[in-house]
Amino acid sequence: MSQTSKPTFFELLRQSLQDVEGGYDLLAPKFDQSPYVTPDFILHPFFERIKKEERNFKNGIDICSGTGAASVDLVNICSEKFTALDLSQGMLDQCEKKINATHPSTPLSFVKGDALDMPFQDEFDVAVSFGAFGHILEKDQTKFIQQIHKVLKTGGVFYFVTTEKLPWWSWSLWKARIFNWVIHVRNLIYSPKFIMYYLTFRLPEVKHQFEAVGFQVEVLDDVNFQIHGDQVIDLMALKYFKMVKAVKR
Ligand SMILES: C[S@@+](CC[C@H](N)C(=O)[O-])C[C@H]1O[C@@H](n2cnc3c(N)ncnc32)[C@H](O)[C@@H]1O
Repeated sequence: MSQTSKPTFFELLRQSLQDVEGGYDLLAPKFDQSPYVTPDFILHPFFERIKKEERNFKNGIDICSGTGAASVDLVNICSEKFTALDLSQGMLDQCEKKINATHPSTPLSFVKGDALDMPFQDEFDVAVSFGAFGHILEKDQTKFIQQIHKVLKTGGVFYFVTTEKLPWWSWSLWKARIFNWVIHVRNLIYSPKFIMYYLTFRLPEVKHQFEAVGFQVEVLDDVNFQIHGDQVIDLMALKYFKMVKAVKR
């Protein structure tokens, strides 16, 4: 089977029976063909908005980079150094391959590590993270935010995307709740646990959590993630997606 084919149902099932690190190690070669990779219709407006700020970022980090969906954009706005950090060596290897293929002029570093215990201090001007908040248990959210605060320089910025509360009639809300119940039951009866819960790290609560840790937080309401017709395809329109900017005070 070619490396670029989609993961099969049984491969996804096997992956879901591992812990987070082992699961992503297995999925890594086909992750970009899976539905879990962050799509361009999120990444494109996100990085366009960052560019509009016309800031000179020297040193940047993609936290939980995975195979580097966002890294390829972030590396282009960092003038001195780029770092990708992820728990899974398999995902990092794919990320390294992908970024090297773009021949960036910025020095690169690929670090296998835990976002809840990052080996950096006051180092980065800019940080991003996509697709990983569901892997952080609610009890660890403050610790995660403290880690982001620790690795940024004063004045450094963490940009991310989340949603507000979804209306009760949203199909995505019920899909996410059903997924969470299934994972909850799976983790009760099976070990190792696979930590992945939707509907976490959301506005307005997460804004208050960032502020309590020492960030100045702005929801960038001028960024629009909607694509034509998405209300019809999915009752959770992309209008609920919000780009957030958190500056380390
Ligand atoms: C759904 S993937 C998202 C990858 C990529 N950022 C994207 O948007 O396509 C989640 C990634 O988070 C990583 N991850 C999960 N928990 C982590 C943790 N505590 N520390 C570092 N990486 C973590 C996983 O290994 C995986 O590569």
